[in-house]
Amino acid sequence: MSSKSGKGDGGRNHKIATRLAHAGRNPSAHHGYVNTPVYHASTMLYPDAEAFVAHRSRYRYGRRGTPTSEALENAIKDIEGPLCEAVALLPSGLAAISATLLSVLRAGDHVLVTDSAYLPTRKLCDTILTRYGIATTYYEPTIGPGIAALLQANTRAVFVESPGSLTFEIQDIPAIAAVAHAHDAVVVMDNTWASPLHFRALEKGVDLSIQSGTKYIGGHSDLMLGTVAANKATWNRLKETVYEMGLCVGPDDMFLGMRGLRTMGVRLAQHQAAGIKVARWLEARPEVLRVLHPALESHPGHAIWKRDFTGACGLFSIVFKPAPTAAVHAFLDALTLFGIGESWGGFESLAVPFDCTPIRTARPWAPGGPTVRFHVGLEDVSDLLADLEVGFAAFAEAAHGTDGS
Ligand SMILES: Cc1ncc(COP(=O)(O)O)c(C=O)c1O
Repeated sequence: MSSKSGKGDGGRNHKIATRLAHAGRNPSAHHGYVNTPVYHASTMLYPDAEAFVAHRSRYRYGRRGTPTSEALENAIKDIEGPLCEAVALLPSGLAAISATLLSVLRAGDHVLVTDSAYLPTRKLCDTILTRYGIATTYYEPTIGPGIAALLQANTRAVFVESPGSLTFEIQDIPAIAAVAHAHDAVVVMDNTWASPLHFRALEKGVDLSIQSGTKYIGGHSDLMLGTVAANKATWNRLKETVYEMGLCVGPDDMFLGMRGLRTMGVRLAQHQAAGIKVARWLEARPEVLRVLHPALESHPGHAIWKRDFTGACGLFSIVFKPAPTAAVHAFLDALTLFGIGESWGGFESLAVPFDCTPIRTARPWAPGGPTVRFHVGLEDVSDLLADLEVGFAAFAEAAHGTDGS
């Protein structure tokens, strides 16, 4: 963390809110300006031929780092905690996932991936990793220490995502990490839902912790960004993979990431509080069979969530009691404050239908009714609840007008 003068780490004991405000800044290196300038850069000039040949300079080339990328990497490293050796920035969350898996796997290896993983993570495993001779086994997300039974001699990595971003199973990550490490396999986590503000991934045994910065780091639905926090054992291979594949982030996107990070704590607190209010309200609705939100006492993973997490975000799902698809679509179409769209983590509320039943392979997923995922944004909760009331009225009308098939 920078100090007021920019002279180094004066804030080892600072709380996360303080870190979010100060991390990665060095005003004295920038004429006193609070924020790091946005360097639009490719070529960097050397003073003479000898310096060029010897690469005698702090930076080398835009793709390999600028003061802008360094500031964001350092800020995220600070937030990820003391076990973070360094951070890589990628052009999207999915790019962060693919670069990370490619950094720890090689032809002939086997990877264990949670059955609840973000669907494009699965597609990556089933296409590119397969093509490069890497085999994937999908495991039941709540398997815990039972994952030992699935390890093979060539298992080099275990991929976790807790909770799953559609189905919200909570994983026992310390137990999985203990088994993986005893087998010399690394643990890779998609930690986008909780972020390091609410789940200290590296301290819980994760070796490489990924965030889609597109979500709460950006926070405004106008940015694509991925981050990977690596521990000491995994950093060199990750750095090599990112460098050799030529992956980098545009300067304006890094600026948006840095700007978003400064307010991430207060936004996340509001998303969490509003999300829990809306989830509890939905839980009491007669149309709803179950709410899939780990912060609710009714959630099967609640005890582990309470043990390992310090908070939630604004993303959760519901299972309707059996109802025709037309009724669910009528519900969604009637909402005016909840947009229908991919992604989440922005200031605005969203609601999307989904169906994981054809996707799961470890164990059939049978929720008992149609499913919808909500992202609760920064709007006033009373307005959101009124909007949902309108949705339920349209749902009732559509359900009534069909034969339930
Ligand atoms: C849990 C999770 N991980 C990763 C990603 C991918 O992030 P990006 O959209 O930045 O590629 C998403 C995107 O929706 C996500 O929900």
